[in-house]
Amino acid sequence: MKKISNKYANYIPMRELNTVEHQLFPFDVYNELLEQSPVRYDENRSCWDVFRYEDVQYVLKNPKLFSSRRNRANRESMLTQDPPKHKQLRDLVNQAFTPRKIEELAPHIQNIADDLLAPHLQQGQLQLVYDLATPLPVIVIAELLGVPSSDRDRFKEWSDILVKGARNDSDEAFQELMEEKDRTNAELGAYFGRIIQERRQSAQDDLISLLIAADIEGEHLTEDEIISFCILLLAAGNETTTNLITNAVRILAEQPELQQQLREHPEMIPTAVEETLRYYPPIVAIGRVAKEDIELRGQQIREGEQVISWVGAANRDEQKFANSDTFIPDRKPNQHMGFGFGIHFCLGAPLARLEGRVVLNTLLRHMDRIALVEGTQLEPIQSAFVFGVKEYPITFQP
Ligand code: HEM
Repeated sequence: MKKISNKYANYIPMRELNTVEHQLFPFDVYNELLEQSPVRYDENRSCWDVFRYEDVQYVLKNPKLFSSRRNRANRESMLTQDPPKHKQLRDLVNQAFTPRKIEELAPHIQNIADDLLAPHLQQGQLQLVYDLATPLPVIVIAELLGVPSSDRDRFKEWSDILVKGARNDSDEAFQELMEEKDRTNAELGAYFGRIIQERRQSAQDDLISLLIAADIEGEHLTEDEIISFCILLLAAGNETTTNLITNAVRILAEQPELQQQLREHPEMIPTAVEETLRYYPPIVAIGRVAKEDIELRGQQIREGEQVISWVGAANRDEQKFANSDTFIPDRKPNQHMGFGFGIHFCLGAPLARLEGRVVLNTLLRHMDRIALVEGTQLEPIQSAFVFGVKEYPITFQP
């Protein structure tokens, strides 16, 4: 069989994580690698792995040495641009995607969470991923962009395809997936193109209208750039937030004493959300490409080679976080890298944090004794970069 091309090697999971047990809980493996081979080349995946906090930070804060121009399976967007193009796009988008715009969404997010939960509260059971954690971020992004909520099932399908990762599939299956992604990008492009046309005719109070109006010294976003950004929001904002919510509830179910503690101290919820991003981060790895030959911890990385930064491991680095394997709901300081680091630091962090807070608050207010349904076999999400489970059914006392 033909070897999978280098460009896509980062779709293959590390061999150390090749069992379901390790995929459901990779952190012991991370801790071992962190100690034993902090920077190593993996022949199987043809890439470098970097595990320690200090080294991950070094990679992510040096875009001159480590480029983001990788993985072209999706459309080009700011995520895969380097300076100066990255800064130009991010500054323009920042005019529209402001913390104030996000804060305005708080009451909407609360309403959405209440509506989604209402039918389940008396039953004492919830399919967490299906009933709440998946629809909530999709509806929020749809509202933010100003697209009708009647399109949200299509949104969900599209965003699922965008983030779908190939595994040890045949070349054929891989090729099919890439074609499916291309098709989805084209459909989304046409879809957003129509909305942009409509908003150019008559602006609304929504993000797309603000993106059209964004202006820095006469520079505007092109139609293509706006489309790419909208698609990026679906790809970067939906599954990640779904997993933040699910991972947070998983921690509450695994450590029930936290439920009472947070109920008695709701002021701790914001730091508990941060600690979730450290302890069970939705994104565990971030890819870059070396722009020149670089020596790191005595290893020679060559220009053009892929470098994977394991933020999931860095977040457990004892050198940075005391008692790193303990979930401390009011941990401070907490400079986790769950949202990345440096110029590509997650643009959606204020929104993800807000959604996490609203959901945890709401669940703890309405539900007592949250627990995983007995006998459930958890299934990990099939992706080398994402940490989460496919479904997390819970029981609770209303
Ligand atoms: C970038 C994680 C939610 C939009 C990133 C990066 C990470 C990340 C690790 C850095 C990628 C890199 O350095 O290559 C997360 C997590 C989330 C989340 C864990 C949820 C808990 C969101 C949401 C949105 C969003 C809700 C938008 C609605 C973006 C964008 C970028 C980004 C646009 C690219 C920023 C740039 O390239 O400058 N995210 N994200 N994210 N995220 Fe998020």
